[in-house]
Amino acid sequence: MIEFVRLGLVICILGVSQVHADDETISGVQEYRELLSDSNPAELWILSGEELWFSPAGPNEVSLDECDLGKGPGVTLGAYVELPRYFHDVEKVMDLEQRLIYCRMVIQGLSRDEVTSYPFTKRGEETSAIEMLVTFIASESKGMRMNIPLDHVEEQNMFDLGKQLFYFRAGSHDFGCITCHSGDNKRIRLQELPNFRNQDQARKTYGSWPAYRVSAGEVRTMQHRLYDCFRQQRFPEALYGDDLITALIMFLAKSADGGLYDAPAMKR
Ligand code: HEC
Repeated sequence: MIEFVRLGLVICILGVSQVHADDETISGVQEYRELLSDSNPAELWILSGEELWFSPAGPNEVSLDECDLGKGPGVTLGAYVELPRYFHDVEKVMDLEQRLIYCRMVIQGLSRDEVTSYPFTKRGEETSAIEMLVTFIASESKGMRMNIPLDHVEEQNMFDLGKQLFYFRAGSHDFGCITCHSGDNKRIRLQELPNFRNQDQARKTYGSWPAYRVSAGEVRTMQHRLYDCFRQQRFPEALYGDDLITALIMFLAKSADGGLYDAPAMKR
């Protein structure tokens, strides 16, 4: 009963619509997306990211062409759909952003602070290098299928941790990812909330990030998406490139396994 009342309260506070979504509104949003989809500004991020990947940088003045994203040094094609994954050289599981941080430090000689201090572009300021790199690498997997085999025990452990985190509820409102992302047809105002327990929705959602956010005028990565959902969840701020975020990404990526990867997409 208490659980029931609490859930009711949560739903009231948020204005999450449990009723069937208004078909007209949804089709209006869909139409808007289709109108815009021919000219996704994320193309600019892809081009700049590609240029960054091949340009010498840092004290070592070398490009990232030697960076191994899991498929061999310099191989970008198909790397994103297999991430996060276990890397033998560091003996741990990394997502794309952690791997890029690592490569920029080890190969280009930049400091951790230089690489991580500006992960998300602020309105009206210069574009974050890592967002451009991520968009380029992700685009190199467009049209492929998500392929997260969890062969290594550390990959399985990371997935288990991510799953646990997804169901973990805490904080001032006793929220967890499941509060907002486990039922069908939930919405907060006009924003549809994907249900990650539904494979089709998990595939479509995961397969659309990174995405150009029309509201922000920026491309946002999965790290940013989760950073923002930690805020929605009233959790302490998520640290950029933290292993807990990688665990959640592993859980989401595996939930989307076999799905078509179709990013960068364009979103509200
Ligand atoms: C209080 C509600 C709430 C909680 C809790 C929450 N989210 Fe979200 N989530 C949202 C909202 C609202 C959006 C859409 C935001 C937008 O479009 O700006 C969203 C969007 C997302 C998306 C992108 C959806 C899409 O359509 O592309 C992902 C992925 C996601 N959340 C994952 C998570 C994970 C993982 C957690 C747990 C760490 C979590 N969220 C917790 C409200 C929540």
